[in-house]
Amino acid sequence: MKGIVFSEFLEMVEERFGYELVDTILVESELPSKGVYTAVGTYDFSEMVTLIKGLSSHTGLEISFLLKEYGFHFFSVIEKSYPQFLDRTKTAFQFLASIENHIHVEVQKLYPEAELPTFDTNLFSPGHLEMVYRSERSMADFAEGLIEKSLEYFGEEAEIVRHNIEADGSVVKFVLRQN
Ligand code: HEM
Repeated sequence: MKGIVFSEFLEMVEERFGYELVDTILVESELPSKGVYTAVGTYDFSEMVTLIKGLSSHTGLEISFLLKEYGFHFFSVIEKSYPQFLDRTKTAFQFLASIENHIHVEVQKLYPEAELPTFDTNLFSPGHLEMVYRSERSMADFAEGLIEKSLEYFGEEAEIVRHNIEADGSVVKFVLRQN
């Protein structure tokens, strides 16, 4: 997993809960990286699991809640760091439907070691989009946060219904409907 995912996670913890908690979690976690992440570096996904478990145990908040919050935060990172990907499409559904074949393809070119999910996306009608998320990292809550912020960014509203296809969270279907 790329360094930006870790450094922005720590940034979110600092913003929401204060630097002291960042420090506490890093000291307790005894990570191989020692919590020093560079944007171009690649680190083991298990470090993310350790960090989020640490944050959950200190705050008493569920991991699923924290991952979704992190999705909200990461969207602001996208707005700041990758605005070129947001300008290409006019609607939220066009944007979401372009992740698999355009955006994440470009991300993979920028960072060949990036570990990305796959999205099987189907636009059934102009107001009905379905996205099937697949990843062994089971970060669908993070995806849900990004999907909600994508709608907000384009000034749109949609009902999002989630179906957990695999119990371990590795396959999740999102059904989005606009009125
Ligand atoms: C301009 C838009 C986007 C950019 C630049 C972008 C970029 C990235 C990057 C750099 C990673 C980390 C890869 C790694 O650490 O190895 C990532 C992971 C991920 N992205 Fe995107 N992304 C974008 C939009 C989205 C959206 C809208 C969604 C949700 C529908 C999404 C879903 C995910 C998920 C769930 C992961 C975590 C990895 C996993 O689940 O296996 N991304 N993305």
